[in-house]
Amino acid sequence: MKKKQSQIILSKYSPLMAVDAELFTQDGNKLPTPRVFSLCRCGASNNKPFCDGMHATIRFSGERKPNKALHKKPQEYKGSKVTVHDKRALCCHHGTCNLIGVFTHEKPWIKPDNAERTEDVVEIVKKCPTGALTATIDNKEIKNWFEQQKIIIQKNGPYYIQGGVKLIDDQATDTVLVTEDHYALCRCGASNIKPLCDGTHTSINFKDEK
Ligand code: FES
Repeated sequence: MKKKQSQIILSKYSPLMAVDAELFTQDGNKLPTPRVFSLCRCGASNNKPFCDGMHATIRFSGERKPNKALHKKPQEYKGSKVTVHDKRALCCHHGTCNLIGVFTHEKPWIKPDNAERTEDVVEIVKKCPTGALTATIDNKEIKNWFEQQKIIIQKNGPYYIQGGVKLIDDQATDTVLVTEDHYALCRCGASNIKPLCDGTHTSINFKDEK
């Protein structure tokens, strides 16, 4: 049986409306949800992760400024077998790109051929929650990283979206995803690249509990 396409729908001033989607805690526990439910993205709900209407009270706006960096092509770091593509503007500084000798602090920032095994590079790229990192092996782009469509709530952080959940956004021209397979959506309301997370939740010390 063909699986249902999960969707997340949003407008400039709205929360995230999830349709036919499954919601998980970061520990992998599935939360009971109806077919359609609203998730907070202003950061002010008293019933997080769900929306309680606070976005209207605080006059939340998801409007964003044009961001040229988001429209730049990802930087390419070629290896003999695997090439890593890096769209730095999408990075939320989660810190998962950690493989000694491969992800470095000097140019070129990524050196795929320093890995012992190609799989190690691919595994790290898969862990990049925003999709800022992607990879091609033997010139074939890896497109389907996650099988199951999921919304994962990162404690004190964003929503990690996996498995190709469709994002329907009324400002879509400024929402640039490298891959629709997985991406991170802002939950604190303070990102500069809304609806995507840019890591600002850390600097504002966003907390689930008040
Ligand atoms: S959750 Fe808002 S910037 Fe990450």
